[in-house]
Amino acid sequence: LPALRVAVLGAGTVGTEVIRLITQQGEDLAQRIGARLELIGVAVRDAERDRGPHVDAALLTTEPSALVREADLVIEVMGGIEPARGLLLEAMAHGASVVTANKALLAQDAASLYEAADEHGVDIYFEAAVAGAIPIVRPVRESLAGDRVQRVLGIVNGTTNYILDAMASTGAGFDDALASAQELGYAEADPTADVEGHDAAAKASILASLAFHTRVGIGDVHCEGITAVSAQDIAAAARMGRTIKLLSIVERIEDGTEERVSARVYPALIPDSHPLASVAEAYNAVFVEAEAAGSLMFYGQGAGGAPTASAVMGDVVSAARHRVSGGVGPRESNYADLPVASIDEL
Ligand code: NAP
Ligand code: HSE
Repeated sequence: LPALRVAVLGAGTVGTEVIRLITQQGEDLAQRIGARLELIGVAVRDAERDRGPHVDAALLTTEPSALVREADLVIEVMGGIEPARGLLLEAMAHGASVVTANKALLAQDAASLYEAADEHGVDIYFEAAVAGAIPIVRPVRESLAGDRVQRVLGIVNGTTNYILDAMASTGAGFDDALASAQELGYAEADPTADVEGHDAAAKASILASLAFHTRVGIGDVHCEGITAVSAQDIAAAARMGRTIKLLSIVERIEDGTEERVSARVYPALIPDSHPLASVAEAYNAVFVEAEAAGSLMFYGQGAGGAPTASAVMGDVVSAARHRVSGGVGPRESNYADLPVASIDEL
């Protein structure tokens, strides 16, 4: 079988699991793709640090730019805006397809990534950027592209769900629950992004842009995190038969012939009888409402190394199959420019 040269940017929580899957499932993946995935390098900041049994130390490099220029397929799991953005643009300019889990980057500057993918005729996939293992980007971006999505609503941040669940079910304090979420690999490198709602807002911006075929940036998303939610709030909610969950809601607002979108993230009181109330630990759940499809529900592990690596690898297989047999993934260059409603207008 021919070989596809694969570069991985980052060998942290997600990257090490991606590398494990590429190495442990190499034979099966080769059969599925019609080509072998040849790992040519893994970019990190500290190339001396041991990365566990699945990461060959000889592949570690602190020269990501040189690495991406040699690759057919680049997997970006380093996070942050730069150098991730520059490296993805460089990779595409050299003809590589890219897979990224980087919601912060997509929420800030998806446009330049989409344009580069179009210009160079390569794929850009990002299933892992929203809701960990749950297939939600592909359904919204592709499966429902012929329908008319009205609303996407749910829990899309595992860390905050883990914290709220621990506070409600075991009486854990906020700081201890956050420390556990960090140890379990759910939290962002800077967990402020989780607890202040910015990570959920980034995901809301991605979902809104895909669902409504428009451009919604992170600055368009009304965002309240969970730092002001106290143990007393959670107890008071429980006495009312309610559970506090951090919700992300994106919806299409139709007013006569006028169309706008709304995107918002905030802690909400959910009746205990609602399915979202029983989403525990770092699980996520997303409801999609579309004109023809009706209501759809997606549920699963929303964070963590292995679940996220599963989503990354699905994208890797799609992009690799295109390299082998031709074709490209979805294009995002044609879009409507719908106005975004502010929270005060709702
Ligand atoms: P992480 O554990 O902090 O790992 C980041 C890796 O990237 C580390 O290996 C780090 O190298 C490397 N890195 C960071 N900056 C670099 C730079 N400038 N040059 C070279 N290497 C660099 O992060 P993670 O949890 O795996 O998350 C990675 C990405 O996946 C982020 O975009 C995150 O938002 C996204 N994501 C994470 C999850 C999750 O559950 N963790 C879920 C979905 C999406 P060193 O190890 O040498 O420091
Ligand atoms: N920090 C993120 C979360 C990782 O807790 O949901 C998954 O995107």
